[in-house]
Amino acid sequence: MNDNLRVSRVALIGTGFVGSSYAFALMNQGIVNDLVMIDVNKDKAQGDALDLNHGKGFAPNPMNIRYGEYEDCRNADIVVICAGAGQKPGETRLDLVEKNLKIFKEIVGNVMDSGFDGIFLVATNPVDILTYATWKYSGLPKERVLGSGTILDTARFRYSLGEYFDVSPNNIHAYIIGEHGDSELPVYSSADVGTIPLRKYMERSDEFQTEDLDDIFIQVRDAAYHIIQNKGATYYGIAMGLARITRAILANENSILTISAHLDGEYGENDVYIGVPAVINRSGIREIVELDLDEEEQKKFHQSSEILKGILEPYFD
Ligand code: LAC
Repeated sequence: MNDNLRVSRVALIGTGFVGSSYAFALMNQGIVNDLVMIDVNKDKAQGDALDLNHGKGFAPNPMNIRYGEYEDCRNADIVVICAGAGQKPGETRLDLVEKNLKIFKEIVGNVMDSGFDGIFLVATNPVDILTYATWKYSGLPKERVLGSGTILDTARFRYSLGEYFDVSPNNIHAYIIGEHGDSELPVYSSADVGTIPLRKYMERSDEFQTEDLDDIFIQVRDAAYHIIQNKGATYYGIAMGLARITRAILANENSILTISAHLDGEYGENDVYIGVPAVINRSGIREIVELDLDEEEQKKFHQSSEILKGILEPYFD
């Protein structure tokens, strides 16, 4: 059957701020045909499904949205996990490990009991740790277990650089890689502005100062803390990042996105899930893209990987 005619089905686990914003993004962008919303709080999931269905007439494409149970994951192309405890003011993402690992063991077990054999997309923090856990608990091949990784950090980075250079973020090619968290790093060495290497582009005006680049990165790295301080949680940016990954999978795009992927020697790292650029299509992760990092970037990436592996060690020997 023509792939494009196939019904694309997503099962969403967790309809809190992030999950419901993701569902809203899917509907407004017309990315899936069928969305099942699952949550331990049945009333919330049912309420969200009904609320979204009332907007159906405004959506660009027809879409079936309903409340469901774990058995509805069986025929899903993608199971997206947004369930779990979120960061509170003053908490880091890594502070959530203990409680969210317990929740994930149960969630992934329930999904696999349905007979699910598709792709997992993980958003809950700490996303690199929980994506690794999902891979281990599910037993699915690593290509079919990915996390949102640094897709939002990269979007924030491009937004901030776009503001700085007064250029659309779509014309900024620059990545944030590493942990989705405090040890992430910017890859300035291969960044470009409209195909002009960024550092060369800086020479165009005295306004552009090298020390500004550090400030821009710090703004990006710490963005979530400021938003959480202001409004208690972040959800629109990550929801749109999840929708972007979903579209790349379902439309078989072969797009390069910075997601959390399992490394098997790439970047000199092994057996860790971490944010890297990867080619994403209907099979999940087609391949990991290895950037030519400079010495400083390679060192920081290794440090980030070691932090994640240190967190994993007590739970996965
Ligand atoms: C953030 C959350 C998704 O960075 O960790 O906004």
